[in-house]
Amino acid sequence: MTGAAVSFHDFAPEQDDFLEEVVAGLSQQPKKISPKFFYDKRGSELFDAICAQPEYYPTQTEMNILHNNANDIAQHIEPDCVVVDLGSGSSEKARLLLDALRPSGYMGVDISREFLLAATQRLADDFPWLDVHAVCTDFSQQLELPAQSGDKQKLAFFPGSSIGNFEPGAALDLLRRIAEAIGEGGKLLIGVDLKKDEELLVAAYNDDAGVTEEFNLNLLQRMQEELQADVDVDAFSHRAFYNNKHGRVEMHLVSDCEQTIEIDGDEFSFLENESIHTENSHKYHIEEFAELAQQANFEVEKVWTDAEQLFSVQLLNVKAAIAK
Ligand SMILES: C[S@@+](CC[C@H](N)C(=O)[O-])C[C@H]1O[C@@H](n2cnc3c(N)ncnc32)[C@H](O)[C@@H]1O
Repeated sequence: MTGAAVSFHDFAPEQDDFLEEVVAGLSQQPKKISPKFFYDKRGSELFDAICAQPEYYPTQTEMNILHNNANDIAQHIEPDCVVVDLGSGSSEKARLLLDALRPSGYMGVDISREFLLAATQRLADDFPWLDVHAVCTDFSQQLELPAQSGDKQKLAFFPGSSIGNFEPGAALDLLRRIAEAIGEGGKLLIGVDLKKDEELLVAAYNDDAGVTEEFNLNLLQRMQEELQADVDVDAFSHRAFYNNKHGRVEMHLVSDCEQTIEIDGDEFSFLENESIHTENSHKYHIEEFAELAQQANFEVEKVWTDAEQLFSVQLLNVKAAIAK
């Protein structure tokens, strides 16, 4: 079935931002590049493939929590709300809630333009009663949402433990930005991965099929294709480990040898084993996250978890003090 047309709102950064941020990140010591640059169309497809790997427990666990508790979640949300799906990707997780929530609108918000447009169109086709918007933006810079008529409750939905990609200070800034964007009466339903056995964590980011490795290396491929970077992708390796001090899994691209890469006239040299830090995935205890939420002017209304306490889905309310 073909649904109504998706309204497209393009607030996406220009190509120059990719070049600027890569050059700035590689000029630092240690070198780093933001994980947001993983997500071109190929990166988004690879992320979906990661979600299907048996070692990657977060996706299936979160989907089970959402599926099992959709009706209970809906009890806490006003009917007719507008769902704002942050980093919506394939929009698969939102699908688990739509029949129970019966929102009037859905906004998929993502940096990966082509993938976002295809996923939101599929959603509009499958849920013809829903007013679907695609918002292409970089929410680490700003969270601009299309104006909505009326004063419907906004439910920000931020699954996938994407909040874990932000260091605590940046996570706080982003949560504050979300609170401002959804305003008084708004709620945030957020997936938060929990601290657990290190072996399970390390396995999740080092799947046997090598999909996470390909996802990580795709960043170099993207630099080659979009920035004409002179880089030998085969001369780098994927590394993911748990950093106990910071309570996070780190992903790196490690140089297999001493080498230089060149981008837009700038040269960046690497020692053997020197890395580009490409992603953090912070893990939280439930109380730690409640503390962060509190600082961002949210209060926790309810927390759902799985039986093994691997993952949590948390419903937060914007506190009146900062509400617009
Ligand atoms: C870890 S995936 C999660 C996808 C999906 N929500 C899920 O839970 O399976 C992160 C998603 O956020 C998007 N994303 C990453 N950084 C972003 C940014 N700074 N602004 C907007 N979207 C971003 C990616 O394109 C990707 O779709």
